[in-house]
Amino acid sequence: MAHRVGIIGGDGIGPEVTAEALKVVRAAGVELATTDYDLGGRRYLATGDVLPDSVLEELRGFDAILLGAVGTPEVPPGVLERGLLLRMRFALDLYVNLRPFKSPPNRHNDGVDFLVVRENTEGTYAGEGGFLRQGTPNEIATQGSVNTRLGVERCVRFAFDLAKARPAKHLTLVHKTNVLTFAGDLWQRTFDAVATDFADVATAYNHVDAACIYFVQDPARYDVIVTDNLFGDILTDLGGAIAGGIGRAASANLNPARTGPSLFEPVHGSAPDIAGTGKADPRAAVISASMMCDFLGEADAATRILNAVDKTDDVEGTTSQVGDAIAAAC
Ligand code: NAI
Ligand code: MG
Repeated sequence: MAHRVGIIGGDGIGPEVTAEALKVVRAAGVELATTDYDLGGRRYLATGDVLPDSVLEELRGFDAILLGAVGTPEVPPGVLERGLLLRMRFALDLYVNLRPFKSPPNRHNDGVDFLVVRENTEGTYAGEGGFLRQGTPNEIATQGSVNTRLGVERCVRFAFDLAKARPAKHLTLVHKTNVLTFAGDLWQRTFDAVATDFADVATAYNHVDAACIYFVQDPARYDVIVTDNLFGDILTDLGGAIAGGIGRAASANLNPARTGPSLFEPVHGSAPDIAGTGKADPRAAVISASMMCDFLGEADAATRILNAVDKTDDVEGTTSQVGDAIAAAC
């Protein structure tokens, strides 16, 4: 049976890399029934629409959503981030942001193979806070960090499940418990409580600043990491930098409870500087699509796609030539 997938190609190189990702998924033998949605900067500039309620309701009905990238230089910052990307995360309860970091030895390290599980709906990104006396010399801005037991626990539990399924069976909590004593305490207590259900998973804790050092100097110590929304945002960019760069950085925004679709997207943006030139590397989108296949129960196809990406590591060429090579290697 074909999986029903909503496609948001978006702007710039978004549609270009998404087309290659779909080509590869189909070459791997996965049947998809796709519906295209015109969302992003172009649509916003033309009509003022960011994410109409009716589109959001339609998106709820899919098995998954595949997104390229959104953003054009003319759109003010924040419009698409909060109005489209964050809105989908909250509305579809995509509470886990999962990012794999896997790379052969490179100039930074002897190779890495770990995953970061970032809480995706709470923390400082929940939008709690506000202004008082805005624009006056006495103004105050607060931006609270919202951490619920439910939100932390479901994320931590997902991370333990993931670690349990991997050979190394190791999970590191990253936070700043020594300074963020309220949020950190909730995270640490939740982590310790859930750990008792996973006796075979070894655990560790790092402060986020120390984790930045280890990412650069000793990334081999990591297997699975779980962390909050803000720390995860920053740490995963560092992870991308030490693991093959922007062309390989893939991500999944998951609703593991499966009360709706999950969303899969490369980490990079719409790269207006190279849009239309054929220079975009489609690999990050392809790896994101392999995560989608895995989540849709197509584990064999997902593995074939990842192996095909590895086998074609040295292939250079245009966006579609790289896509063709990966598709042929599936
Ligand atoms: P960007 O990721 O689009 O580009 C940064 C640099 O990396 C550029 O030099 C670009 O050419 C290069 N690059 C990115 N993806 C590449 C690929 N697949 N192959 C080869 N080179 C690649 O980030 P930037 O320039 O900060 O943002 C451009 C637009 O994208 C903005 O409108 C921004 O808001 C948006 N954006 C959207 C995201 C999303 O949809 N999730 C994420 C990040 C940025
Ligand atoms: Mg980021």
